[in-house]
Amino acid sequence: MTIAMIWAQDANGLLGTGTDMVWNVPDDFQHFKNETMGNPVIMGRGSWEALGCKPLPGRKNIVMTEQLDYVAPGAEVGHSLEEALAIARWSSGKTWIAGGANVYEQAMLIADELVVTDLELEADTQGGPAVYAPKILDKYWRVDESRSDTDWRPKSGDARWRVTTYVRKK
Ligand SMILES: NC(=O)c1ccc[n+]([C@@H]2O[C@H](COP(=O)([O-])OP(=O)(O)OC[C@H]3O[C@@H](n4cnc5c(N)ncnc54)[C@H](OP(=O)(O)O)[C@@H]3O)[C@@H](O)[C@H]2O)c1
Repeated sequence: MTIAMIWAQDANGLLGTGTDMVWNVPDDFQHFKNETMGNPVIMGRGSWEALGCKPLPGRKNIVMTEQLDYVAPGAEVGHSLEEALAIARWSSGKTWIAGGANVYEQAMLIADELVVTDLELEADTQGGPAVYAPKILDKYWRVDESRSDTDWRPKSGDARWRVTTYVRKK
């Protein structure tokens, strides 16, 4: 099973406020949908709640929480990364880690690939909380040129955007 992570970040690596996303780039959202459709998607409780506790359709949604009594209607619950991955393993193909910051940080140690959207904007959290994408170190990751943009894609909503795919170095 390939474990892939997917996120979108602003020019400073910002992911969101912890409870919300702070931009609207519909074409990137469509890209997220195209990439993940049909596959299991693992997310932290924070991201699940930022999505309004609504499962992403057409995908097995797995929500990570340490709360043993947490109920996520339309999703399955995993109480550790290992448990979430074990639930995902019942499906074939790729398993996607879809955030947020806390879960990406942990899954950086085990992911096989990273599909990262850069947005040409600096989001304004208005002094409020902010969560950031993990650092991608050259030591561990190489860019897969065949699955990466060389230029910006046209502006969609708030920003131009481009996708870079990283694969773990052997
Ligand atoms: N830009 C993007 O592409 C993107 C993608 C996804 C999310 N986001 C943004 O990211 C923010 C949410 O990120 P976040 O870091 O605050 O939260 P998060 O990573 O989504 O969720 C954190 C929660 O997940 C649970 N968790 C984490 N590790 C666990 C483990 N090993 N075992 C069991 N449970 C575990 C814990 O829930 P409990 O506290 O219940 O135990 C923890 O509080 C939102 O603003 C969202 O919009 C952005």
